[in-house]
Amino acid sequence: MRRIITLLITIISISTSLYAQQREEILLDRGWRFTRDDSEAFSSVGFDDSTWQSVSVPHDWAIYGPFSIHNDRQNVAIAQDGQKEALEHAGRTGGLPFVGVGWYRLKFEVPSFAEGRRAEILFDGAMSQAHLYVNGKEVGYWPYGYNSFHFDITDYLVADGVNELAVRLENENESSRWYPGAGIYRNVYVVVTDDVHIPMWGTQLTTPRITKEFAEVALRTKVNYPESISVDALRIVTEIHNPRGEVVASSEARISRYDQHLFEQSFDVAKPELWSVETPTLYSAVSKVYVDDKLKDEYTTRFGIRSIEIIPDKGMFINGVPTKFKGVCNHHDLGPLGAAVNDAAIRRQIRILKDMGCNAIRTSHNMPAPELVEACDEMGMMLMLESFDEWRTPKLANGYHKYFDEWAERDLVNLVHHYRNNPSVVIWCIGNEVPDQGDVIWGAKLSRMLQDICHREDPTRPVTQGMDQPHNVVYNNMAATMDVAGFNYRPHLYPDDYLRLPQQIILGSETASTVSSRGVYKFPVERRAMATYDDHQSSSYDVEHCSWSNLPEDDWIWHDDFDWAIGEFVWTGFDYLGEPTPYYTNWPSHSSLFGIIDLAGLPKDRYYLYRSKWNTDDATLHILPHWTWRGREGEITPIFVYTSYPSAELFINGVSQGIQSKDLSVTYDNSLDEESTRSLKRQRRYRLMWMDTRYEPGEVRVVAYNADGEAVAEKVMRTAGAPHHIELSVDRETIAANGRDLAFVTVRVVDKDGNLCPDAQHEIHYSVAGEGHYRAGASGNPISLEPFHLPRMKVFNGMMTAIVESSETPGEIRLTARAKGLKSAKIVIKTE
Ligand code: GAL
Repeated sequence: MRRIITLLITIISISTSLYAQQREEILLDRGWRFTRDDSEAFSSVGFDDSTWQSVSVPHDWAIYGPFSIHNDRQNVAIAQDGQKEALEHAGRTGGLPFVGVGWYRLKFEVPSFAEGRRAEILFDGAMSQAHLYVNGKEVGYWPYGYNSFHFDITDYLVADGVNELAVRLENENESSRWYPGAGIYRNVYVVVTDDVHIPMWGTQLTTPRITKEFAEVALRTKVNYPESISVDALRIVTEIHNPRGEVVASSEARISRYDQHLFEQSFDVAKPELWSVETPTLYSAVSKVYVDDKLKDEYTTRFGIRSIEIIPDKGMFINGVPTKFKGVCNHHDLGPLGAAVNDAAIRRQIRILKDMGCNAIRTSHNMPAPELVEACDEMGMMLMLESFDEWRTPKLANGYHKYFDEWAERDLVNLVHHYRNNPSVVIWCIGNEVPDQGDVIWGAKLSRMLQDICHREDPTRPVTQGMDQPHNVVYNNMAATMDVAGFNYRPHLYPDDYLRLPQQIILGSETASTVSSRGVYKFPVERRAMATYDDHQSSSYDVEHCSWSNLPEDDWIWHDDFDWAIGEFVWTGFDYLGEPTPYYTNWPSHSSLFGIIDLAGLPKDRYYLYRSKWNTDDATLHILPHWTWRGREGEITPIFVYTSYPSAELFINGVSQGIQSKDLSVTYDNSLDEESTRSLKRQRRYRLMWMDTRYEPGEVRVVAYNADGEAVAEKVMRTAGAPHHIELSVDRETIAANGRDLAFVTVRVVDKDGNLCPDAQHEIHYSVAGEGHYRAGASGNPISLEPFHLPRMKVFNGMMTAIVESSETPGEIRLTARAKGLKSAKIVIKTE
């Protein structure tokens, strides 16, 4: 037994400091066992789990499917969506088997743990209702699946030998409105320290004054120590390192006179390099705690120097620069990877969003993975971190309301403590469309209570919430209570809300909810709410939305025309599993159509519409629809151009279809009537539309003109011939040989000249050789029931994404893609 145990254990040690003897972080990622059975015996020491499945963590037990109409079938009326009677919602949470119990067990050793040392276990997130046992004893319970939590396991751990960890998780049906994932889907660490140590998330760093010449950095550091230690012997020495690692300030301090568990220090940093979306400059505070001259702990707090100001009527200022949120809401799932967190997948999402010109992400409707926050710090992306989709009043039979009274404060405190030093985090969001909005007595009081907790734990950031009942929340003072009133949808009511609210600031906390399917175009082209079709798709002409929502430009016009409208968070950046609105009851619909980018991470047309407005550094010139319409010859087939240029001329087979210019005479007040909405008047200020063009095979060419009428850019699109071969391209040619890095390969079915075949639906078969394996794939088709992890899938409208994962041996990964009737393709990815 002992021999098997040793073989099973792989301990990867990530040391955050050079002084591993003081503090060690052990990542528990390999060697776990997993089962969907349930028994009390699973927590006991020595339980034989050898027949359980071997898994590594992060792990999402439900993402491997199979999809089924029976998984979490919810027979409910969705009140927020205006449903009056219960409907059968089959794919609301993605149609994947996340409901039920799962157990994980791990045997691990902690060589650095010894008598007199302390140990904590940290879960970045476990879905959900985690019961944790160490060496047969229950250590703790944490119900909310999205939050990070930690327990002191000093008294449970053995110093020499093998420890046994057991985790029981359970997900209830009707507990979510989208796919929550299942299992230990984020990282787990054991942190070993001296008994004199800085506790988890124990520093609070602020930058109270920033000028060109200097920045004041204030650091508060908590310290835990045994009673036997005299406070006079305790000392902290902190150095501030600039982005190049040079020491730019330092100070030494003794325990605070006012709090025997706190050090307070302040520093002057000369000529500070400010953190912003464009220049994500990071400093770090490296703190050493001594007892007399003995080093006891070393702890690094990474931070940025930047200011946030929200000025009534004037707007938001970051480092004094007027800034609007060009943001997206995202759920936490990573499409075909499910909820299992992955750094490469997160960074790819951020790269795609940044290229669109997006400057902010709202982590709707819950706490993020730490990997997202770190990547946003490093890559330059603002974050609105959210906590809850429900407070005291239920949206769902088994939603967070069951825990709210007992857990909300603890959950919120963990969120704020975890991320209050991260410069990318610029605003907290305490809730989303909570039904307590309708509560005249409690709506404002609960808002105040939660906002006060944020202020108490972090006095530097504003607090908002996403509200969708404007009349109620203005009447019951809920909106007036918030630092920033966040409204979901209904931008036409902004002016009225603005007039009544004392803050004189409105945030579009959730906007648009336009629906579209990549590569699908519906005729005739007309604006429609809640349109459904036999193929369960929505039109990529970007003219379809929900009954409560609208098109991108309907929001832009407010944020463009009023300083007090401080920007928006579009629903959503990426498609996600679950919520296939408007196909509520139409299995096999099971993933969203809201994304600007599809579930495979492939941009829809809408991406270029946002890019044309949001990306002010690079030009955009994009034509839609595709131009391969066998059978539509001679029929009206409108052409839209999304461009950053003010006007453009369109040619079909060399014949000019005229010049279109963005109509800047359209404003919010001359376009509010129904006829303007129907005739897409607001859209004319931002997109170029040729509504009467007729299809003929051949070539569509667009020539863009600058403000002086000079031709400055051109784009051509051609009718595709027969599908001929597969084309592969990869997001990164070299990835890390660490067993978890991913390469995302874009797969296209093209004709002999390389034109995309926009209706190809071939099944592609993949094989991988060398130092990696096939991890998953996605096509972005919201009705596809193909399992993500199998190395075969049908392209959706000619495209999909295939994902390969590195092994731990440097070398190369060779991915081959084959399909019946097509010339195959191969791509090589280096790993090092
Ligand atoms: C909002 C809600 C989101 C999502 C969206 C779809 O009301 O906050 O979670 O459901 O609608 O349009």
